[in-house]
Amino acid sequence: MLNLGPVSSPSAELPLTQPTPELVIKEILEGTVSSPSEVEAALGTPRQGSISILHHARDLTILNVVWTPGMAVYPHDHRMWALIGLYGGREDNTFYREAPRVCRSREASSWRPGNTALLGESIIHAVANPLRVFTGAIHIYGGDFFGTPRSEWDRETLQEQPFDVERARKLFADANERWLANVEGRRLALTRYELQPPSGPSTQGENRLILRLAAAAADRADRAAHREEIDPEHREQDREPGTTAIQPATVR
Ligand SMILES: [Fe+2]
Repeated sequence: MLNLGPVSSPSAELPLTQPTPELVIKEILEGTVSSPSEVEAALGTPRQGSISILHHARDLTILNVVWTPGMAVYPHDHRMWALIGLYGGREDNTFYREAPRVCRSREASSWRPGNTALLGESIIHAVANPLRVFTGAIHIYGGDFFGTPRSEWDRETLQEQPFDVERARKLFADANERWLANVEGRRLALTRYELQPPSGPSTQGENRLILRLAAAAADRADRAAHREEIDPEHREQDREPGTTAIQPATVR
């Protein structure tokens, strides 16, 4: 049962005991994503990276966000509290501290289905889906997510610039295109093999070799595309000495 604190009191000093809206909503979100399969059944199995609006108002935005396999999003802020609840895949986060116009220092956190995280309004983070499956998450923001001016930072130079919604949309479109090309390439390699059935022991051996080489080439291309897509700053070996992973709980 939710503890909403005193709901009526003559005292105006009770806000210290009154949960903030984000804490109340976090508890609800935790209950929701504790059954990831039920969330997926309700929202649909992710088939492509997308941002779907479930609720949009001046004081609250709720999104169903699907990250394409291997997709990475450059550092950005929200300028409002944010709640993230995963129902599929994995979401790797890198958190930044802002120096004048440039982000420095970072911590990392990895979230899995059933995890929820509360991000404070000053948080700057970059997000990546390190898996070869889609990641699905419910995002809840304490304001107008699309109408609030905010910032993004260049992935390489870390220079600040105004957040560009169209650039974000293109990021999803490009990631989906790359993923579809990868899937289609694998399907074509297998189709070619099936259209050339082995006709004898030697040919069968040759075909098996060709298939192995095609699969290895597709795998190399897949890994190369994956490395290119994932922000190098998310890779474990690139983490700065002394930074530590934080738990998927409250991040403020
Ligand atoms: Fe974000």
